[in-house]
Amino acid sequence: MKKNVIITGGAGFIGSHVVRLFVNSYPEYHIINLDKLTYAGNLANLKDVEDKPNYTFVKADICDFDKIKEVFKTFKIDNVIHLAAESHVDRSITDPFSFAETNVMGTLNLLQAARECWKDNFENKLFYHVSTDEVYGALEFDNTLFTEETRYDPHSPYSASKASSDHFVRAYHDTYGLPVVITNCSNNYGPYQFPEKLIPLFINNIRRNKPLPVYGEGVNVRDWLYVEDHARAICLVFHNGRKGDTYNIGGFNEWKNIDLIRLLVKTTDRLLGREEGVSEKLITYVADRAGHDLRYAIDASKIKDELGWQPSLQFEEGIEKTVRWYIDHQDWLDSVTSGEYQNYYREMYKM
Ligand code: NAD
Ligand code: TYD
Repeated sequence: MKKNVIITGGAGFIGSHVVRLFVNSYPEYHIINLDKLTYAGNLANLKDVEDKPNYTFVKADICDFDKIKEVFKTFKIDNVIHLAAESHVDRSITDPFSFAETNVMGTLNLLQAARECWKDNFENKLFYHVSTDEVYGALEFDNTLFTEETRYDPHSPYSASKASSDHFVRAYHDTYGLPVVITNCSNNYGPYQFPEKLIPLFINNIRRNKPLPVYGEGVNVRDWLYVEDHARAICLVFHNGRKGDTYNIGGFNEWKNIDLIRLLVKTTDRLLGREEGVSEKLITYVADRAGHDLRYAIDASKIKDELGWQPSLQFEEGIEKTVRWYIDHQDWLDSVTSGEYQNYYREMYKM
């Protein structure tokens, strides 16, 4: 069936994988990638789909309510997959306001634009909010897992803003009947991630022989999922998820930071042709992140049992693929860190 689907944040890390999957798998859908192109958004992530007939890029800010309504009307939007956000915890600690503006107000704008433009007639409509497991807070070092019933308990300004936006999405469902679905996913890794997050930052630093700043003792635990597995899960929930429901998505793959860092060092050294482990000398313990959540771990059995989703990649295999990608795309790493790509696309799109 023909659908006009707006994907916000499609030029970012996860968004670009979601856009690519939808454009390639559903030629009958028209995919509108709406992105402001902040430092984290990069149209070079989507070079392979930019000429496809079912793909359109619109540069817009989700905080600009009039512009969002105009886009809804121009493209007769049926469905929304909302990923646009400020996404880095460390930045949220130094600049919490931009997180509240984009993640809370931006989401509220989209919800209200959807409601107004769909004129409260919600047949075949869907508002899909892509969220994080960080809304649940932190677990102890035990066997507990976040389930869909876990009480929200965000600690960082980032997770507080995402929790707030989740609440607004549910409020629009409960109050106005807007058909919504929310997924809360664990830490993603893979190609096209901005090198401020742990995995691409460390690969880049190993490559350039720069220090690897480990926060605190390096004992914090995260559950890691390959980004294409997340994109597949989003596609599945988009088509088969129950309206008004929430699904947790995770890798069943917990790693203590320091163990993950040692694996990264080993893999990157080997793929760079260096003596394996030689870059361990770059590991530098630094002051802990303020409010650093101890452990995240997801119980993803609901999406597994109800929709038949599970991760496809073993972690070591995913890390190998990821390190190889960053080594083969050093020009991408250099350009996103220099800001050159922004000038390039500004010219190309006459922005
Ligand atoms: P990202 O930072 O790589 O990309 C965010 C994108 O949003 C960028 O393209 C940016 O230009 C765009 N954007 C930012 N502000 C905007 C605005 N005001 N208007 C329009 N576009 C704007 O983020 P990501 O890691 O790809 O995360 C995408 C979504 O998934 C976020 O909502 C995040 O909370 C969620 N999430 C991320 C992870 C993860 O591990 N990265 C895990 C779970 C959930
Ligand atoms: P990050 O990739 O920022 O994701 P999140 O904070 O959303 O989980 O960080 C992953 C883990 O790595 C987290 O426990 C913080 C830690 N970390 C470091 O030790 N050093 C770093 O330079 C970064 C960016 C993160």
